[in-house]
Amino acid sequence: MNKIKILIADDIEETRNVIKKILSMQKENIEVVGEAANGEEVINLIPKVKPDVVLMDINMPVLNGLEATERITMEYPGVLVIIMSVQAESEYLKKAMFHGAKEYIIKPFNYDDLIETITTTYEKYRERQVKIASSVETIRDANVIAFFSSKGGVGKSILSLNTAIVLSKEANKKVLLIDMDLQFGDISMLVNKYNQKNILHAIDDGQIDSYENIKPYLYKYSDNFDILFAPEKPEAAEYIAKETVEKIMKIIKKQYDVIVVDTGINFNDNTLYILDMAQKILMVSTMEIVALKNTKLGLKVMDSLGYDKDKVKLVINRFNSNYGISKKEIEETFKDGVFSFIPDEEKSVVVSVNKGLPLCDDDKYYKLKIGKAIEVMCKDLEKGYERR
Ligand SMILES: Nc1ncnc2c1ncn2[C@@H]1O[C@H](COP(=O)(O)OP(=O)(O)OP(=O)(O)O)[C@@H](O)[C@H]1O
Ligand SMILES: [Mg+2]
Repeated sequence: MNKIKILIADDIEETRNVIKKILSMQKENIEVVGEAANGEEVINLIPKVKPDVVLMDINMPVLNGLEATERITMEYPGVLVIIMSVQAESEYLKKAMFHGAKEYIIKPFNYDDLIETITTTYEKYRERQVKIASSVETIRDANVIAFFSSKGGVGKSILSLNTAIVLSKEANKKVLLIDMDLQFGDISMLVNKYNQKNILHAIDDGQIDSYENIKPYLYKYSDNFDILFAPEKPEAAEYIAKETVEKIMKIIKKQYDVIVVDTGINFNDNTLYILDMAQKILMVSTMEIVALKNTKLGLKVMDSLGYDKDKVKLVINRFNSNYGISKKEIEETFKDGVFSFIPDEEKSVVVSVNKGLPLCDDDKYYKLKIGKAIEVMCKDLEKGYERR
């Protein structure tokens, strides 16, 4: 068995030494590969020592444990962060978990606590990796299409909503759109529906054990298109565990042909779960250099997560040939090419957003280039399934 490689991050040398000593008693399956005195050192060490697990203190100088955890989740989602904290820091603890820490351990801890926490967290994660490797999920009914981006405001929500509408109209499929941007989801606004039931209501009411129970919490947009809205308050996201999302997805998948998921922009546990189970991930970027750079990094992360190029497809939104970068240049930048270019049509998009009337549901707009481009993208998505 490979040893679990540990990086210890704590600003107090004595603490690091104690942890090292504890871990050295477990030589056959644990190996300390490095130690750091602040968050910045952790980030710099990761590519060099390639740890499986970072044991992370919260209060450290230069870059604290919370910020470091967030950066690790974004840049190295394969690395597991276990937070070490004292009881008094429970508020921070919650935040750390939200920023992607996988587990925590309360200081002072003893030998058994530490070894147990490291090994169980590592094994749980390995299971997930194995699942991806064996690729095809055991229960797969609906095709899951996830829209993701490494920068906000690039058009994920607009594209996921309109994709869902086109798929439900054109191909006569039963489609569900899930607003999995649990913190800032705004699909409800895009369809001009406020104060509707949402995922948090279903969870709070304990109604997620069967499709019959979940159904009343879905918004019926048309005969064969339902939407599961995100909570209204950003803080609600903290209370929705990955296990809960997993449970809902497993039940709901059996009821639809296609599930389109709009995600938030960080690689938190819920997003990772959706990305893992999705058949297609549409990585959305605009043409700004910052968005393109982040997209490149995001695609690298996808690669390190073990997703292949058939699964991850790049969508350039707001394409306009007057933006100083040509189609060819973009295509040359991304070695796996561009799946779809969606034109920039500010006026029609803004009017549609403000009216709460999706582009692809309005005959007038549907005839525009943007509507046509989305339609073509949907056809290409369907071809992908046929080949499956
Ligand atoms: N093809 C387009 N042409 C013109 N404007 C667009 C286009 N797509 C998106 N926009 C503009 O970008 C804004 C953001 O779009 P959207 O809310 O879909 O992005 P997002 O990636 O979901 O953002 P967030 O990260 O906040 O969830 C829209 O309100 C609209 O004004
Ligand atoms: Mg959005």
